[in-house]
Amino acid sequence: MGFPKDFIWGAASASYQIEGAAFEDGRGPSVWDTFSHTKGKVKNEDNGDIACDHYHRFREDVKLMKDMGLKAYRFSISWSRVLPEGIGRINEDGLSFYSDLVDELLKAGIEPFITLFHWDLPQALYDKGGWRNRDISDWFAQYTKVVVDALSDRVSNWMTLNEPLCHILLGHYLGEHAPGEKVSSTEALRLLHNMNLAHGKAVQTIRKHAKKPCNIGVVPNPYSGVPATDTKEDLDAARAFTISGTSRGIFSNGWWLDPLLIGEYPKYGIEAMGNEFPADMIKDGDMEIICQKLDFLGINVYTGLVIKHDDVHGYKVCPHRNGYDQNALKWAVVPKVLYYLPKFLYERYKLPIIVAENGTTLPDWVSLDGKVHDPNRIDYMHRYIKELKRASMDGIDIRGYFAWSIMDNFEWSEGYNERFGLIHIDFNTLKRTPKDSYYWYQNLILHNGDNI
Ligand code: NOJ
Repeated sequence: MGFPKDFIWGAASASYQIEGAAFEDGRGPSVWDTFSHTKGKVKNEDNGDIACDHYHRFREDVKLMKDMGLKAYRFSISWSRVLPEGIGRINEDGLSFYSDLVDELLKAGIEPFITLFHWDLPQALYDKGGWRNRDISDWFAQYTKVVVDALSDRVSNWMTLNEPLCHILLGHYLGEHAPGEKVSSTEALRLLHNMNLAHGKAVQTIRKHAKKPCNIGVVPNPYSGVPATDTKEDLDAARAFTISGTSRGIFSNGWWLDPLLIGEYPKYGIEAMGNEFPADMIKDGDMEIICQKLDFLGINVYTGLVIKHDDVHGYKVCPHRNGYDQNALKWAVVPKVLYYLPKFLYERYKLPIIVAENGTTLPDWVSLDGKVHDPNRIDYMHRYIKELKRASMDGIDIRGYFAWSIMDNFEWSEGYNERFGLIHIDFNTLKRTPKDSYYWYQNLILHNGDNI
């Protein structure tokens, strides 16, 4: 036995990273338009104005997905394409784009998975305070309703938020992503709380208005520890690190998972913050809104840390040795995360798991033979998916795997310098060239992973 028969083999993308057409058909600006057009924020001053031009080429892209044998495609909706001011006036042209995309996918036999928020907050809402304004949870619910009304006759898989940690901490605390703020930990938690409320209200909205039965989940990017050895001590240490690594402060998984999945902020974190914990942000009934019943937990997984037991602190992080296996961004290749992270999270939160993103960036180019040879991406995926299969065979309820990404795209502050795609994009001509990994994944899907 390997992966279940109905396992969801997919690939993923996000609106700002691939669509382009940033100023067309009534789309309003998002914080990413503003940020990428601000000098010095993105490598090489790249921006998503054109990106992969998926907005105009989606039919060609869906054809490539179909030829690959994809069962599912995860994409996000640009909030400001649908509601240019974030609330109020609906941009029908924007909605039509997503409606046509959904039709095209279904015609190709590919199940759409919609992410409602993948970081491109409408600029108009940021100008009203963005995540700092408690009203944002209602704005998000209104936007969700617009999308659900338009697409839920055909779409049944919904993901509310993508990587809240990155959006809040990279975007508002470290200032490396849009909108580029640097707030305190206390303030970051206030932003998170409003985002959590937005998630909760979106789930309620989908459940209430969806025209057919649906699966709803959220997609965090938990830090993952893998045990240094097979001993029980190291296993427990890796679990403790993954579930509640207090020394990582507001980066600890508990802050980002517990409110959504068990309805409370982590006690160890609150204790560690002391007076800096903004307890007044929690109003009566908030935690009930935030903690909605979900159908699955999506996880984005790329790398991990090797953890050893330590008598004093419980665990310690083993530094990667010099010359460790790494991708173009120097992220360590740690395949075992796709065994241990689903295991630890399933044991704790008891929700079916979908790997919503996994993949790697490499300096790929088109060879003289016209092909893109990316043996290390194949090796990466092979190793990671093998570990996922082991977890599945050990009884962890894993429903799907989405490769990141369907195509090379705008890698946020790294611009077009990084290539995570299974399909190579020439950013001058916008020509698509399937990489060797595209064909490798095609074969894996064909065999439902039994060939690894
Ligand atoms: C996670 C994000 O969701 C995605 O947008 C990004 O491109 C990948 N990680 C790779 O960094």
